[in-house]
Amino acid sequence: MSKKQNKKFTKLLSLLLVVSLIFPVGGFGFATSAEAATGAETKTVYQETFVNGKGHAKESGNAALTAVTGKTFTGNEDGGALHVTNRSKDFDAVDFSFSDVGMQSGKTYKITVTGYVDSDVTVPAGSQAFLQTVDSYSWLASANFKAGEAFTMTGEYTVGSNANDTRVRVQSNDDGATVPFYIGSIVITEVGSSDDETPAPPTREKAVPFDTITFENGELNGFSGRSGNETLTVTTVENRNTSHSKALKVEGRTQNWHGPTINVAQNIDVGYEYNVSVWVKLISPSSATLQLSTQVGSASPSYNGIASQSVSQNDGWVKLEGTYRFNAVPDEHVTLYIESSNSTASFYIDDVSFEEVSGPIEIQKDITPIKEKYQNDFLIGNAITSSDLEGARLELLKMHHNVVTAENAMKPSELQPTKGNFTFSGADLLVDKALAEGFDVFGHVLVWHQQSPDWMNTTTNAAGERVPLNREEALKNMQDHIKKVMEHFGDRVIGWDVVNEAMSNNPPNPTDWKASLRQSNWYHAIGPDYVEESYLAARKVLDDNGWDHIKLYYNDYNDDNQNKATAIYHMIKEINDRYAAENDGRLLIDGMGMQGHYNLSTNHENVRKSLERFITLGVEVSITELDIQAGGNHEQSERDRVAQALLYAQLFNLYKEHADSIARVTFWGLNDATSWRAATSPLLFDRNLQAKLAYEAVMDPVNFIADNPPIEIEAKQATALYGTPTIDGEIDPIWNEAERIQVNQHLAAWQGATGVARALWDSENLYVLVEVSDSELDKSSPYPWEQDSVEVFLDQTNGKTSYYEYDDGQYRVNFDNEASFNPEDASRGFESATTRTGTGYLVEMKIPLRHIDPPVDGQKLGFDVQINDARNGARQGSATWNDAIGSGYMDTSVFGELLLKKAGNEDVQEPETVENGKKPLPEQANDRAREVRNELPKQANDRAREVSNKGQGQNK
Ligand code: XIL
Repeated sequence: MSKKQNKKFTKLLSLLLVVSLIFPVGGFGFATSAEAATGAETKTVYQETFVNGKGHAKESGNAALTAVTGKTFTGNEDGGALHVTNRSKDFDAVDFSFSDVGMQSGKTYKITVTGYVDSDVTVPAGSQAFLQTVDSYSWLASANFKAGEAFTMTGEYTVGSNANDTRVRVQSNDDGATVPFYIGSIVITEVGSSDDETPAPPTREKAVPFDTITFENGELNGFSGRSGNETLTVTTVENRNTSHSKALKVEGRTQNWHGPTINVAQNIDVGYEYNVSVWVKLISPSSATLQLSTQVGSASPSYNGIASQSVSQNDGWVKLEGTYRFNAVPDEHVTLYIESSNSTASFYIDDVSFEEVSGPIEIQKDITPIKEKYQNDFLIGNAITSSDLEGARLELLKMHHNVVTAENAMKPSELQPTKGNFTFSGADLLVDKALAEGFDVFGHVLVWHQQSPDWMNTTTNAAGERVPLNREEALKNMQDHIKKVMEHFGDRVIGWDVVNEAMSNNPPNPTDWKASLRQSNWYHAIGPDYVEESYLAARKVLDDNGWDHIKLYYNDYNDDNQNKATAIYHMIKEINDRYAAENDGRLLIDGMGMQGHYNLSTNHENVRKSLERFITLGVEVSITELDIQAGGNHEQSERDRVAQALLYAQLFNLYKEHADSIARVTFWGLNDATSWRAATSPLLFDRNLQAKLAYEAVMDPVNFIADNPPIEIEAKQATALYGTPTIDGEIDPIWNEAERIQVNQHLAAWQGATGVARALWDSENLYVLVEVSDSELDKSSPYPWEQDSVEVFLDQTNGKTSYYEYDDGQYRVNFDNEASFNPEDASRGFESATTRTGTGYLVEMKIPLRHIDPPVDGQKLGFDVQINDARNGARQGSATWNDAIGSGYMDTSVFGELLLKKAGNEDVQEPETVENGKKPLPEQANDRAREVRNELPKQANDRAREVSNKGQGQNK
């Protein structure tokens, strides 16, 4: 599982845990705790026991309602009840309209319903009663239907929190659609009024000092397993401090996010910065990354990495240490936890400390707000969790932004974790608070392959395997989710990311967009039209409700990859063209969201190409999740800072140029410490909420670019001699004369395998020989680029484009002579051989020069060589000849140059310029991009590369 997935699962599952704590089955806990929290007096506004008839109950759907007597069950001692029969749909049910029962706008009510199912009724598995409000279908509570048993549901609701709601409904879920049931009573009490002044937040107790936990007392000292399934034992087998004797052993993990956790809310003074440290020692496997993180809040939590390190068994005790400023303590819930990218890793922890290091900070109030600078261009947005809506974070958020996206709170797994149970309360709190603070809210996200519950599109087969759900059911789940969620939030949002990340990365044949779709669960269950069906369902909700101003977006990452952008372009075009033809030219997909998760190897010219391509679709474009990774380990060198700022400047320059087509630019996180990629400091504000150089670059891109001129570094040059070797893995004498090309520029901190390459050519082929020094050969990863292997990059016309053209290819051969290609048809006519040598292995390749006809003496090819060094099933690092940033797999402007030369220059044909050749020259080479990229500091690139290899979409 990738780090990204790990983080997502971490967050999802821990939120589920929290949600299940807040909402125990039946929903009793919620109302009680809310009441306790507000301390409000209660007043009963409506109570109906059905002894004298149906009261204000009204049929919904085809249900028949009959008042009966003598139906005694627990909670219904008077025997009067309402019998709800003739049911075949979940909404064949009972409604109580707000006006009938006296529920008034702005007031909050607790609603309790008792009910019963006759003992002779057949109750399908999974059947439940639901307490909801209509038309938003806000879920208030649920209870299981069981034959012969009573049930109770209690929920809480504020009238007016959704303008579409007019009544309370007692219904069932789909499974229980046919179950006849009784309602013994309904009681509605007023518990408080939202008209009231917002109560002042309770003053917090001063922080209790945290005593370093050494486990010497033999106890867990507040630690527990995040999933509850981990085994935590205080052991005397190990300890960190030699004068002590105990440590905590963590075993039984099965997911990356599992691990020991401790709540430190009471040890925090709001606004203070704390130094957190823990010693860890890996038990198994032989190496793994261990990460110390903090979760802030429970309703819409944020998860923040504090320190992480790749450790091996031999390292012994290692200290994970970092600082974090707690600008808020939402829900009085802040935890420290240790997780691992290896889901089953076991380890010891010891000597956990948590110390205050500095007091509250002020945000800078004298700098220009970003939203003001771009007020005539586009909205400025950010992604938020609940802690962003308090204290200094809220001040900064408000000062610079006018729109927010929920970072996680509105994702499918948060809103409908189990079928039919809509859990809107966390998101509602966030959205309502954001609106009250004056922000617009953008909805994220309805249909996605991540952070979505399995039940939506998969099922378990007889053999116990997860398999796609049948099309009809999956489609219905998708449509229901879209409808209920969109109607619930109504016009509190300005738009929706309807489908997220449907396209695969770097698809080989991008004009065939259907074949380029990601093979996700939605795709497998429904088929390629799931995308179009999602928009049709979402459009219907907007049409039915007259919400014409709400925009429907498609959203995706790696948007700078030209193949991916092309596939997305074709998808939107075809779907929109079809809809327009049948609907008076109206758009079905209104907007394209370029996520913009970039790093220092991103070439802004590729972003430009994609942006301009999307604009031609006639849709609005937004930058929806902008961040730029630079640096590592929560640190940035001066060069990282400049390179990051420069890319921000280049991007804002571009956005400004296209401001007419861009609706919104949203950053993915407020400051480096809380970013989902905190270790690579990707944002405009630092861990102390102070503006970084990147902020300055964003505020004045033109001058920033002018003041930071790129240093042009020439591409490296090498020569290929004329001659034809035999491809047999032997070094034929003809190789002896060839120039030695050093492949020893490390792209990662890991200083692993290097090699020496040589090249020959003849009228048909280029020949490359690479001798690799690598003491330990590994090809256990399923991904060829994560195996010990050699890659040759070739740009036959030397066009130096920022993307791959027809004449560009990547040829990869591992030490066992298994080849892989990009694009796949680069394999035509390719041959290779490998042999093991005393110090590693040797690869010999024949690459047809199909796109230069014929190759001639004096011609230059774009050329590079990369050596991938793998260990334990993962690439630890790679070394190249020219490319300093590791983006040769998608960008030919980073290649060096190979001169084709005939020995002695006899018989030489005049060098033919590429322009005179048969093949067209690609569009003008992108010099500026190249200059900038060549200027990038190596260390920065190393880190960006390292991180991006673990992140999304880095596939080659
Ligand atoms: C990320 C959040 O920032 C993380 O907190 C979470 O763990 C994983 O998801 N593309 C998206 C966003 O559309 O929803 C993702 O957000 C980042 C990638």
